[in-house]
Amino acid sequence: MNIHTYEKVWLVAAMVLIVGFIATITYGAVGPGIAMIDDEGGDINPDEINDDERFAEPGVEHVGGNEYEVAVVAQAWSYTPSQIEVPANSEVTFYVTSRDVTHSFSVVGTNVNTMVIPGQVSEMTVKFDEPGEYGILCNEYCGEYHHTMEGKLNVVPEDEFDMTELSVEADDEVESGNETTITANVENGMQEDLETTVSLEIGDETREEAVTVPGDGSEEVAFTVDSADLGEGDHDWTVTVDDYEESGTLSVVTPDGNESADGGDGDA
Ligand code: CUA
Repeated sequence: MNIHTYEKVWLVAAMVLIVGFIATITYGAVGPGIAMIDDEGGDINPDEINDDERFAEPGVEHVGGNEYEVAVVAQAWSYTPSQIEVPANSEVTFYVTSRDVTHSFSVVGTNVNTMVIPGQVSEMTVKFDEPGEYGILCNEYCGEYHHTMEGKLNVVPEDEFDMTELSVEADDEVESGNETTITANVENGMQEDLETTVSLEIGDETREEAVTVPGDGSEEVAFTVDSADLGEGDHDWTVTVDDYEESGTLSVVTPDGNESADGGDGDA
């Protein structure tokens, strides 16, 4: 059989095109790691979101190594939390559900884009290699203020990320001659132990205490403050842990003789 030269050229060109089209479709489907959101995330009763273990306190959770889980609740017209921070070089699994109507959770500039349907949990895992800032927005029309429904995802450099939280309990007032306690509570959201130093500055004194906060736990450091060392008046204090600090004022007051006498009478 004799095939004309041009016929052969067109046959080869058509074959190359067909193979090329199949290759691009295959690459698009499996190459960049794009996955459809399915029902893997499971069901949830939208009226019982506040009782759900994952969504009662939505936010970022460290699950070990470089893996994190982020629970997000969408509602008209906001996300909770609206600001999300994760470290670079992490693998983040998002769980998103809605309290009311259908929204979406779209992280602009990434392939994270899912409908958020009441009763369903959308689950998706993404790798963030580089630090960056991404907007989160809703692209399912959800009512009057749909256009204001937005959030932010910050991927910060690894050495700038931590999950430490500091809270301090202290009295406002102590009677001169008495002691009081300033208690710092350090929470460690990472799975690994955190070795750090808690410091208290009060008056012209700085006190430091080294602590090891267990992974996914917390540790209390109590500083006993003697009013006799401070003298009467207001004294500013600052408790510091890593980049976190909390401050307040402690007043050392004269014991009120009359008041305690009245109290005595009342008791008797
Ligand atoms: Cu939520 Cu649009």
